[in-house]
Amino acid sequence: MEWKAKWIMPSSETGEVCPLFSKSFCPKGKVKKARLFITATGVYEAVLNGKRVGEYILAPGWTSYQKRLQYQEYDITEQLKEENQLLVTVGKGWYRSRLVGWEESKTQKELQKSPAGLLAQIEIHYEDGTEEVVLTDTTWNSGLSNVRFSEIYDGETYDASYCTDLSDHARVQIFDGPFHTLIPQQGEEIRERERVYAARLFQTPKGEVVVDFGQEVTGYVELTIDGKKGDKAELSHAEVLDKEGNFYTENYRSAKAKYLYICKEGKQTYKPKFTYFGFRYIRIDQFPGGVECAKPENFTAVVVYSDIKRTGYLSCSNSKLNQLFDNIIWGQKGNFLDVPTDCPQRDERLGWTGDAQVFIRTAALNYNVEKFFSKWLSDLVADQDENGRVGHVIPDLLGGESSAAWADAATICPWELYLAYGNSQILSAQFTSMKKWVDYITEHTKDKNLWTGGEHFGDWLGLDAPAGSYKGSSREDFIASAFYAHSASLVIKAGKVLEEDVSNYEALYERIISAFQERYPKCLTQTECVLAAYFNLAPDCQELADQLAVMVKACGIQLQTGFVGTPYLLHVLSEYGYIDLAYTLLLREEYPSWLYPITKGATTIWEHWDGIRENGDFWSSDMNSYNHYAYGAVADWVYGVAAGIKKLEEFPGYEKVIISPNPDKRLDFLKAAVETRYGTIRSEWKKADDLWRYEIETPVDAYIIIGDKHWEVSKGIHTFYSSY
Ligand code: BGC
Repeated sequence: MEWKAKWIMPSSETGEVCPLFSKSFCPKGKVKKARLFITATGVYEAVLNGKRVGEYILAPGWTSYQKRLQYQEYDITEQLKEENQLLVTVGKGWYRSRLVGWEESKTQKELQKSPAGLLAQIEIHYEDGTEEVVLTDTTWNSGLSNVRFSEIYDGETYDASYCTDLSDHARVQIFDGPFHTLIPQQGEEIRERERVYAARLFQTPKGEVVVDFGQEVTGYVELTIDGKKGDKAELSHAEVLDKEGNFYTENYRSAKAKYLYICKEGKQTYKPKFTYFGFRYIRIDQFPGGVECAKPENFTAVVVYSDIKRTGYLSCSNSKLNQLFDNIIWGQKGNFLDVPTDCPQRDERLGWTGDAQVFIRTAALNYNVEKFFSKWLSDLVADQDENGRVGHVIPDLLGGESSAAWADAATICPWELYLAYGNSQILSAQFTSMKKWVDYITEHTKDKNLWTGGEHFGDWLGLDAPAGSYKGSSREDFIASAFYAHSASLVIKAGKVLEEDVSNYEALYERIISAFQERYPKCLTQTECVLAAYFNLAPDCQELADQLAVMVKACGIQLQTGFVGTPYLLHVLSEYGYIDLAYTLLLREEYPSWLYPITKGATTIWEHWDGIRENGDFWSSDMNSYNHYAYGAVADWVYGVAAGIKKLEEFPGYEKVIISPNPDKRLDFLKAAVETRYGTIRSEWKKADDLWRYEIETPVDAYIIIGDKHWEVSKGIHTFYSSY
């Protein structure tokens, strides 16, 4: 793509109002094909002859803008007329909104200084073989749009009564915008994917008028109202009600998350353009005729997320577990808006690396996320320092040194994508970055062959945290060294796939293992046992699993693990003979457990095991999200162990599989299905009188293991029975 267009910006200051750019043009002959190439330093909406161009919401998406800015290509052949008007509104988006709630980072400050810029180029190919290009230059006009204010965290103000004046031909000016960072669209488009209709409208004890959508979603509310010019509708967003039943927004911290709409005359429908919210409830702060005039049918929640395709399904006989499966799906939908974010509501909707690496296995079962993560990993590469440092968040707005188990996303995510989709290109694209990450640790440790020193998030939110700390009590050096070994092992595996020489890393790996065993002869916490056993770091992993089981039982069959240990906890138990205990943890309903939030009405996964306590109190408002997908990583155990659908490293992308289901008597049935590129794998088991009945469908050759029996089967449907 050759850019002839110039970056344009309004010639006068527009303050908080989003500028509108316009261009009229007439094709000079019969059009064969016309394409619009477009991007912005912000987010844009393009409207050609009154019709929105494409379905991409919040285009051009969110990348590490200082290194990579996507542009989009739209086929507009069908939309062209003899006389055309292209209108483009540009909002702040991720480029220019405040994105770090607690302090503005240097990167953010620099980006925020950018003007509201637009770059567009229409290429028209005529039937007679000639071509014409319409491009952003000084012939464009600009004016103030109806979007009076828009930011990612704070929301949007739209004045439908405002009449944009483009007639005074306010010209635009050319500026020195970014060309060297432009790349074609790489990720999935963000789209409006679903709609949720208001479940009920009610008054809280405080007298607030609130709409409940029944489901926490990420997106925005579409308003349909009959109003008079100048009437206002104003909405606030919330995830939960407090224990008195009042609207609760404190956990949004400084994110205002408000949507103000000013009416024109008559019946009208509008939804925000350049912002999004994480919410289940809205409070009607203003409404035409007074808040008491609001009706449920005035409000529809529009669910917005990346255009990833659903591939995985789970269900069973336990309704709470089914709700958990649902919440995991909603957690993924709610946080897969171009970047895998920690949460969608407060002033921190960032691409936290730790959360992403924890969840990626589950994410890749639930949805096809190959393109989504490949794009994010390209940003990781772009933001990785020469010395190998990987940020806490990608795009890296925070800077700072790397934390173990967060920055290891650099090795874990490419490897998991390779296993899930069988495409070694992701490994080729990331291999240098993977090695650089391991080399960074080698260069930054205090003690050779371990990773000691540095600043880490530890076993974030582990329940064995000392009072007043967010970090569980597992030793940080232990966790860091365990991940050092794990990352080195993944570099070796990736290198072997790519036929690279990894002998240095193999030698390093051996040294890490012996240093680790010497330094940490004993594990002190659940998470330490989990990591050492799952990563195979100890001479006797069975002994560690035994110790883990004792620890879990000793505290009343409770998990104490945080972000780092939880994803592997059930795997270690089931792998070493404690499947019964693993199920007990999964099915537990009292705090702390996966099902406890369900008993409190959760419709997404919570950041804290006790986001809402038994007595209805909240976890402190400084960090309490009700839509944090990390603990949803447990679904990968349900697919992989309960239903038994396992990937084989030698046959990545499910070219051949192992299916080894593990029924539990506390469930009458369980079903899992995963759509792979070879077809759908399905594993179901159910009670059949005094037997277990298994039905397994495989599109490829499979090894089936049931109890102590093994079968090698080819594609097809296979039914087995085993004693109960
Ligand atoms: C985020 C987490 C993240 C963590 C780092 C939090 O504020 O919400 O999900 O991983 O910080 O420790």
